[in-house]
Amino acid sequence: MALVMALVLLAMPAAAQDLSVGRSLAIRWCTACHLVEPNQSMATDNAPSFPAIAARPGTTAAALDRYLSTGHTLMPDFLLSSQERDALVAYILSLR
Ligand code: HEC
Repeated sequence: MALVMALVLLAMPAAAQDLSVGRSLAIRWCTACHLVEPNQSMATDNAPSFPAIAARPGTTAAALDRYLSTGHTLMPDFLLSSQERDALVAYILSLR
């Protein structure tokens, strides 16, 4: 799996790389509570969907990065690396 991932990463330009990494991280870690994709149907009620977060005017890469860098009450603290944060932020913003 790690090898496949590494090969996929090598084959892609940086932006596309972030997006697909961000998407798979989101699917793995965030779907329990958030709708992370437009066609997903199950999530919890109290977490905003990623497309809805992306659509807000106040949502910027910096704001998302800050949000994901700090622990918060209702969300588990994922201790994301800066690369993981970048990838998740790129993915969320791509849903605009
Ligand atoms: C256990 C449930 C849960 C999981 C898992 C979870 N979240 Fe959340 N998230 C929430 C809830 C509830 C809120 C809204 C309340 C809050 O801010 O704590 C939220 C809010 C957010 C917001 C801020 C939205 C805003 O109002 O600006 C972002 C961004 C976000 N989550 C990203 C993520 C990402 C990325 C992941 C996966 C790495 C993730 N969440 C995983 C429950 C969760």
